[in-house]
Amino acid sequence: MKTIQGMSILITGGGSGIGAGSARYFCERGAKVTICGRREEKIEAVAAGIGPACHAIKADVTVAEDRRRLLDSAVRHGGGLDALINNAGNMYRGPIEELQEKQLIDIFHTNVIAGMLLTGLCVDALSARAGAVVFIGSIHNRRAFPGASPYAATKGAVETLSRVLAAELGSKNIRVNCVAPGAVFTEINQRAGLFTDEEAKARLESMIDMHALDRIGTEEEIAEAIAYLVCAEWTTGALIDVDGGLGLGLTRA
Ligand SMILES: NC(=O)c1ccc[n+]([C@@H]2O[C@H](COP(=O)([O-])OP(=O)(O)OC[C@H]3O[C@@H](n4cnc5c(N)ncnc54)[C@H](OP(=O)(O)O)[C@@H]3O)[C@@H](O)[C@H]2O)c1
Repeated sequence: MKTIQGMSILITGGGSGIGAGSARYFCERGAKVTICGRREEKIEAVAAGIGPACHAIKADVTVAEDRRRLLDSAVRHGGGLDALINNAGNMYRGPIEELQEKQLIDIFHTNVIAGMLLTGLCVDALSARAGAVVFIGSIHNRRAFPGASPYAATKGAVETLSRVLAAELGSKNIRVNCVAPGAVFTEINQRAGLFTDEEAKARLESMIDMHALDRIGTEEEIAEAIAYLVCAEWTTGALIDVDGGLGLGLTRA
């Protein structure tokens, strides 16, 4: 098992939610972390709150030139690259009859294609350090939420590609795994304009009794699973559900 101390970790989408929580988790344990996002003030605030171990760079993962800058910046900040956490993601929901082609293409671009291309870019740097890639899947592949087909489809793609890339990159000494989080209160629905903060919170709380453990999760609890997958040297192609038992389909009859 590797230790986090001294690692260089690149986390996409670190200006809020699970990305910000993971950046804090890794920095508190001695890693150098590079985070990115499109809103500069958000990533700057996260980095300032964590301290010099966390480096923020304004970058959009759907832009090729930004992905290149991001990798260069992470390698400079951390002296190499031990792990890439493909965390940046957006939400798009709607009835199947009303889905818009442009928005479907956009969500696949951010949630799937950008992570694939960034992973490809990071292969040499990760290979040099026997590094790891972690993708973020979702509870949406365990429980079906009507109206969430665009988002769920991207997360299904991410889970599948984690396994294929694990097979493809094993010979280069790179492990590829996936964490499937359950309900964590972050910005994702609000950023998509779907709910206000209060509505998003109420919606998550309404799901509490669907959890075996009777509560929603925290960003830190997702970071713990990401950290395990970054450090576990004989684990590749794995999918870890971290969802308080929401994915069980618990029926309290
Ligand atoms: N929260 C949950 O319950 C939950 C459950 C399962 C899976 N997830 C997954 O967890 C991951 C993190 O989401 P979250 O819940 O923490 O939501 P969040 O708070 O909205 O964080 C997502 C971050 O991604 C960034 N981002 C979006 N598009 C980007 C782009 N093109 N380039 C760079 N950064 C981009 C956003 O910042 P900017 O807008 O500033 O770019 C934002 O800070 C996502 O992959 C999500 O699908 C979340």
